[in-house]
Amino acid sequence: MSTETGKIILTADRPTGRLHLGHYAGSLKRRVELQESGKYDRIYIMIADDQALTDNADNPGKIRDNIINVVLDYLSVGIDPLKSTICVQSALPALHSLTFYYLNLVTTARLSRNPTVKSEIQMRGFADEGLPTGFFCYPVSQAADITAFDATVVPVGEDQLPMLEQTREIVEKFNRIYGQTLVLPQAMIPENATQRRLPGVDGKAKMSKSLGNCIYLSDSPKTVKQQINGKMFTDPQHLRIEDPGHIEGNVVFTYLDAFCNNDHFARFLPDYNNLEEMKEHYMLGGLGDGTCKKFLIQVLEDTLVPIREKRMKWEKDIDTVYDILKAGTAKAREVTDATLERVEHAMRIDYFSDRSVVGEWQNLLKTSH
Ligand code: TRP
Repeated sequence: MSTETGKIILTADRPTGRLHLGHYAGSLKRRVELQESGKYDRIYIMIADDQALTDNADNPGKIRDNIINVVLDYLSVGIDPLKSTICVQSALPALHSLTFYYLNLVTTARLSRNPTVKSEIQMRGFADEGLPTGFFCYPVSQAADITAFDATVVPVGEDQLPMLEQTREIVEKFNRIYGQTLVLPQAMIPENATQRRLPGVDGKAKMSKSLGNCIYLSDSPKTVKQQINGKMFTDPQHLRIEDPGHIEGNVVFTYLDAFCNNDHFARFLPDYNNLEEMKEHYMLGGLGDGTCKKFLIQVLEDTLVPIREKRMKWEKDIDTVYDILKAGTAKAREVTDATLERVEHAMRIDYFSDRSVVGEWQNLLKTSH
């Protein structure tokens, strides 16, 4: 049976909180670019509520609340429901069936080696408390997500590369056993290193809600200012303006690397033509942290103002947002159901798609008599 040949993108997020600048720099901005590139036949964006439940089984309310937050974040950054299909994972039952079949193709030893899951197990304290089986197996469910949409390209952060690797192994094993059925996906990771992982405002490796070091896309200008002026790390050795400053590990410059362009200099800081010139002056001494932070706030607001405006508009029309999500999910259901049908046919467990097995069973009984 033929498989899709078009260029198909799947991306997804766990709805465990509002999306922040780390998501924007690492993923959302690029999704909009890919959407606008016109190079892809289909783009699916999934809210992975089932995956979020694998470590939030006792808190389904949190997941339910954050579905709307995440959809609003998508729409605010410019995801266009006419061009990208937004859907909800739990309403796609084919994904559950596929997961169950794929679990037979993966050993526990292989799952135990997944470095991302390993570190998440540590972070969540599952090593001591006990590890939920669903969480342990979520890379397999993610393989179901990816293959159900026949995704050829999966734009992800670096931490997701092990999931793509496992998905590819599952695809290859499935196709070897059952015949060519599943599409082999490819990961696409950000080119720019600072976009791959934006640190928290405190310089910690990642933005994390529990650390309070995030700037959310829905934060007010006042909160953004407070996070930067009050919490953002600069260079601890840069005590007086005239002291030489360091760029390395200086979060203000890490953020500028990720967000500013030459046009921002022309508009907000015409003393310099570009970030290189600004960095040079900072390292030489004579450029104060206050000036750098003020510029960074202007740069970030340049990104955040249109996002906030769109969000305000959508927040007033949750009825329409609901309809978008419902229609997107219905469309995704058709696609994923079709893949499941193909898979069950390949596995020869499609007993009820027609009555052909009746003849088969009759022959079987005839020859065995
Ligand atoms: N694991 C991903 C994350 O935490 C979310 C995700 C679920 C995903 N299913 C996916 C990403 C399928 C890409 C493709 O960010």
